Amino acid sequence: MALPIDLLTQRLLVAMHAVLPESVQESDPQVRRSQDRRFGDYQANAFMGIGKQLAIPPRAVAQRVLDACNLADLVEAADVAGPGFINFTMLPSVIEVAIEGLAGDRRLGVRQSPPGRDKVLIDYSAPNVAKEMHVGHLRSTILGDALVRVHEALGHVVIRQNHIGDWGTPFGMLIEHLVEIGEETAVAKLTVGDLTSFYQEARRKFDSDSAFAERARLRVVSLQQGDAVTRRLWQLLYDASREYFTTVYTALDVKLTDDDIVPESSYNDELESTLSELREKGLASLSDGAWCAFPAGFVSRDGTPMALIVQKSDGGFGYQATDLAALRGRARRLHATQVLYVVGQPQSVHLEMVFAVAKAAGWLENTKPEHVAFGSVLGDDGRMFKTRDGGSVRLIDLIDEARARASVEIGSRTANLLPDARRDLSTMVGVGAIKYADLSSDRIKDYTFDWDRMLSSDGNTGPYLQYANARIRSIFRRAAERGVRPADRIAIGPGERDLALQLLDFGEAVLSVAATSQPHKLCTYLFELAQTFSRYYENVPVLNAVSEIAESRLALCGLTGRVLEEGLDLLGIRSPDAM
Ligand code: ARG
Repeated sequence: MALPIDLLTQRLLVAMHAVLPESVQESDPQVRRSQDRRFGDYQANAFMGIGKQLAIPPRAVAQRVLDACNLADLVEAADVAGPGFINFTMLPSVIEVAIEGLAGDRRLGVRQSPPGRDKVLIDYSAPNVAKEMHVGHLRSTILGDALVRVHEALGHVVIRQNHIGDWGTPFGMLIEHLVEIGEETAVAKLTVGDLTSFYQEARRKFDSDSAFAERARLRVVSLQQGDAVTRRLWQLLYDASREYFTTVYTALDVKLTDDDIVPESSYNDELESTLSELREKGLASLSDGAWCAFPAGFVSRDGTPMALIVQKSDGGFGYQATDLAALRGRARRLHATQVLYVVGQPQSVHLEMVFAVAKAAGWLENTKPEHVAFGSVLGDDGRMFKTRDGGSVRLIDLIDEARARASVEIGSRTANLLPDARRDLSTMVGVGAIKYADLSSDRIKDYTFDWDRMLSSDGNTGPYLQYANARIRSIFRRAAERGVRPADRIAIGPGERDLALQLLDFGEAVLSVAATSQPHKLCTYLFELAQTFSRYYENVPVLNAVSEIAESRLALCGLTGRVLEEGLDLLGIRSPDAM
């Protein structure tokens, strides 16, 4: 596929080689789509910087390159402008050829990286056994799922890992609580997602009843020593919770399966050897009876070095040790080239310390870990998102509410749907709205959970994009009734230009999500595409044009639909046929 942006870049590089000093010949000419379309289709931004570097006025540098650049077969016009941009207006034939390439490309311009080069491990969702998943887990699950899909689309090998919290001291009290209320009652409670009250009851007993607390402490020891009875009770908690998590994943329509679970407990056998390796390498030392690593550059507020506790003074291993062992295995055993931790911002210091220790230990030679951090979910009062009575929101209730609200929202327009179809549509719209609201904001920022805004069919929302696509499908249904078929070749007139150029940027948008782990870049792209399409459809007659033009325009609509659908799919959002 010959994209205009690549053609311009190549030609500029040739000219730069011919007329610029060697030091800047290889610089990226920085060709981008023009924001202000009055000045052209594309612009090259590099010459301001290059001029500064060479101490030559940027406009003069840009002009020198432009004069040496062979562009006759590509552009209608090319000019130096402003402080030293070069603006380009493409020949329609060049856009036509590119669009033909896009239409003929199954991947719609998303370039594949060489097979076997990238192996991306994504650590996401990671709820805790016998504890309700909170909205942070929801964000992690949604963001992680989108990143999985994007990396897969780029031809990377993707390993999904659900690092479930299933180990540690709370399990003593949780098991004792299970014993007291009876196995059956406990399992039933957990399976239906009544995790919060289960956890709180256990906690309450632990805090108020010293005999219970003592039993809980002994339980932890039995668990760590592998006592068979205790293991069986622990397994009950684990299985019931997993069943509940699976219900949530199914309702959310994400790719995570039971096979992706690699829980904290699975690293047990590697904890001792992780510690001994760190000790051998001089990276762990005893501090107050605990084995700690003190990675360089981490100091607490009072100036003392911060400790990453590998083994506690009582001999137990915790969350930190597990993460070290996990990263070691991900690098050494799984040979991941990239490890993405989709985990909330508050854990950033913990993860940065784990990365620093792993690096010092030499585990990261061919592995790059990255904390894909995200902010909190806030309610409309600007505080942490909670239920009306201040409790934590059950994810399954949230998803049900999304469906119910979507059903109301689409109600009047879909009165003639059969109940089943209506339920499916409500699910697609409701779940899509939650996902899109999360993915479309810069993940680092806190985001406000606002039902009305996320379900609105106006603005940068899931329903708006789904609606844009459904509209294209309805155009196709009407076309079929009238016997209009999409053309094989798409002609680019002045009316088509904006839409065509926007379509050609899809591959770049997908790439930028992988490069920054920021799905909102794809959301912004799709939103602009839907708006551009909407303007196109308002300004240009499609089915009412003379037949040859109608067929070409219909084909352009079809290509727009394909890009919208593929883009939504990469975000984990379904595209209803009609809405
Ligand atoms: N279970 C943890 C929590 O609920 C998240 C785990 C994230 N992944 C990791 N490798 N630390 O906060």
